[in-house]
Amino acid sequence: MSDVIVKNISIIGVGLIGGSFALALKNAKVVETVFGWDANHENLTLAEQLGIIDRAGPSLTDAVKDADVVLLAVPVGSMQAVARSVLAHMKSGSILTDTGSVKQTVVGSLEPLAIESDVLFVGGHPISGTERSGAAAAFKELYQDKRCILTPTPNTNSTALAIVERLWCAVGSEVVKMDVVKHDRILAAISHLPHMIAYSLVNSVSCYDRYPENILDFSAGGFRDFTRIASSDPVMWRDIALTNRESLLEMITQFEQFLAELKQDIDRGDMERLFTFFQQSKISRDAILHPDPKEH
Ligand SMILES: NC(=O)c1ccc[n+]([C@@H]2O[C@H](COP(=O)([O-])OP(=O)(O)OC[C@H]3O[C@@H](n4cnc5c(N)ncnc54)[C@H](O)[C@@H]3O)[C@@H](O)[C@H]2O)c1
Repeated sequence: MSDVIVKNISIIGVGLIGGSFALALKNAKVVETVFGWDANHENLTLAEQLGIIDRAGPSLTDAVKDADVVLLAVPVGSMQAVARSVLAHMKSGSILTDTGSVKQTVVGSLEPLAIESDVLFVGGHPISGTERSGAAAAFKELYQDKRCILTPTPNTNSTALAIVERLWCAVGSEVVKMDVVKHDRILAAISHLPHMIAYSLVNSVSCYDRYPENILDFSAGGFRDFTRIASSDPVMWRDIALTNRESLLEMITQFEQFLAELKQDIDRGDMERLFTFFQQSKISRDAILHPDPKEH
């Protein structure tokens, strides 16, 4: 294999994100052996049966001791504890990276631990996903034509950064580099706030009790499209909400202000303001799907 980037990679947390990365790397033939470990043994066995990983454990130590790169794809709230266990068994000079959806907390806690262990740390976050979880949800095309944000710091080793970048490019992603604070603010707006709104919407509609029927049975395209992400894993979203607290609260406050204005305009029957509000939103939303070619 001439295009191999690293010989051995270990995926800790072989779910949607870790499993899809493993499948895509194998498909691109840029790694020789994929080791895997997962706290859920049934999921780990399934990942091996599905050919997502070549070797499961049999222990966390076995899964990481020969790895050139270890990728952590566990919930954000478990990252630090898992990193401690993993770093105790990693080779000196090897690379630790992660996929956590929040970067300030994760990079802030993992980087010093890695430095202590003589391991090179690179923070990362693929901007792709689905509402599904576990190895069964993994698929090799997940990262194709998507972005992956890497969050180097002044301590980041440039060779390690280049290797992690090559791995993400090999699975079809465009790599963007960004500092952790900017990352967390942008993701609070574009991903974390929409999840909070989708969860709240489903809960508020399902609590509507004016009629005996479950009114969710009447939901069609619009409600289902809008709330798809409310089927996402609750542990993952609890951890994201708590670790990106400050940026998320800022976005929730801004959203509340918009909703309050909308409520007031509906209450007052202000046709002009309502029209402008909906029109501005339509223009912004349409531009995501059909960006102005002059701007490129
Ligand atoms: N799902 C998304 O859309 C998405 C997108 C980008 C990044 N992420 C991030 O990637 C990470 C993984 O998300 P996912 O969607 O693959 O979740 P997932 O639930 O599909 O997979 C996580 C896996 O980690 C395992 N796990 C949990 N705790 C563990 C521990 N202590 N030790 C070992 N394994 C453990 C679980 O058993 C599970 O198999 C999270 O940090 C998430 O924030 C998710």
